[in-house]
Amino acid sequence: MSWSLHLPLNNPHAAAPHSSLTSRPANYFAACLNVDTRAPDSDQSKPLKDKRSSEIIADEKKFIVGTYARAPVVLESGKGCKLYDVEGREYLDLTSGIAVNALGHGDSDWLRALAQQAEVLAHVSNVYYSVPQVELAKRLVASSFADRVFFCNSGTEANEAAIKFSRKFQRHSNPDKTDPSMEFIAFSNCFHGRTMGALALTSKEHYRTPFQPVMPGVTFLEYGDTQAAVEKIQSGKVAAVFVEPIQGEGGIYSSTKEFLQSLRTACDKAGCLLVFDEVQCGLGRTGYLWAHEAYNVYPDIMTLAKPLAGGLPIGAVLVTEQVAAAIEYGDHGSTFAGNPLVSSAAITVLDKISDPSFLASVTEKGQYFKDLLVSSIGGNSHVKEIRGFGLIIGIDLDVSASPLVEACQQSGLLVLTAGKGNVVRIVPPLIISKEEVEKAVGILKKCFHVLDEATST
Ligand SMILES: Cc1ncc(COP(=O)(O)O)c(C=O)c1O
Repeated sequence: MSWSLHLPLNNPHAAAPHSSLTSRPANYFAACLNVDTRAPDSDQSKPLKDKRSSEIIADEKKFIVGTYARAPVVLESGKGCKLYDVEGREYLDLTSGIAVNALGHGDSDWLRALAQQAEVLAHVSNVYYSVPQVELAKRLVASSFADRVFFCNSGTEANEAAIKFSRKFQRHSNPDKTDPSMEFIAFSNCFHGRTMGALALTSKEHYRTPFQPVMPGVTFLEYGDTQAAVEKIQSGKVAAVFVEPIQGEGGIYSSTKEFLQSLRTACDKAGCLLVFDEVQCGLGRTGYLWAHEAYNVYPDIMTLAKPLAGGLPIGAVLVTEQVAAAIEYGDHGSTFAGNPLVSSAAITVLDKISDPSFLASVTEKGQYFKDLLVSSIGGNSHVKEIRGFGLIIGIDLDVSASPLVEACQQSGLLVLTAGKGNVVRIVPPLIISKEEVEKAVGILKKCFHVLDEATST
């Protein structure tokens, strides 16, 4: 199928199809995308579907609470690893909606599962049973260390549930203790979410400070500092240790087997739970179904979200039987969680990604991507390190990555930042082709000069 078929031809403002964004004059996109943040109100009588990017952006600024510093791109459609904006410009997507669209945009099996389920039953509350939810739970259990699953709607909710389950587990396992272990350990550069509990476990002070007081009793330790973690766990006050086997938002830092194994051993000795947050790194992104399989260390609880339903909101908490035994009716719940529509989508995603040949292709493409990055930009004076594995890759720079991210966007390539803004984060759909990898690296390489320009001014 030709990509041009997927251009938004129904959009009256769609530009003529073009194969290469880079064939446009250098200032073309800057002019198109340059949005005055004080833009006057756009014509409110005009239907939104007939508006250009600049008008939609102006409306967003007027009607939506300003929590996002968005890139000035209004996306309208997508297919595979390609996205198209309302003017018909094509982008190669290395962001996957922040590690969500693992099967790319518009996967035909995913669409079929959604359509079939939507026709039959989209939502029932958790007052009743439904087949897709039970089926999804069965498959998650069969494919992991876990015995049971709790469903929710996002990554932060999954961590929020893991916090509650950990505390309940401690109370349940120590019925005679007057002050059971209720504290938590989290690590430098970690990100666990933005609701009050998960926020308390998130290391960036900038996220927490405006909302203090957050949940007390969290100790932040250096990611990888085994001795400090073991000492704190031995204090006997810790309900659970929250750790990402690979940190995404924090800058694509991988754990070591020794670190995770030491946490496991110390937790076992102290009766403390080990929680792996695989919201970003889980479900095939590393080339392993679960990132912790790369280290052969297993948690008591694993939190999942982003890619699980291929773009629909879902979260899941996978737990051992011991943890599940502490939870009673009414301890936690959610209206939307695991409804038939989202569960059917997730069954399709899980089935496709857990196929060993799919996982092998992620490993192979990830290695190819990293090798190509090393050979083409590894020698650039701004590149400190290229790290990660599978299709979660970080390019650590000695300067802010923003000018590079912007230049790539103007050349038709979407990438994210991470860490303190100095890391280019690459988390493409797992179905990316080798040709798309080559194209992406070509654009990145061509855009690198903007870092010299940015540092010389
Ligand atoms: C590791 C990790 N945990 C939790 C979250 C929070 O997920 P959500 O944005 O779905 O609440 C994120 C989001 O980026 C994440 O990367």
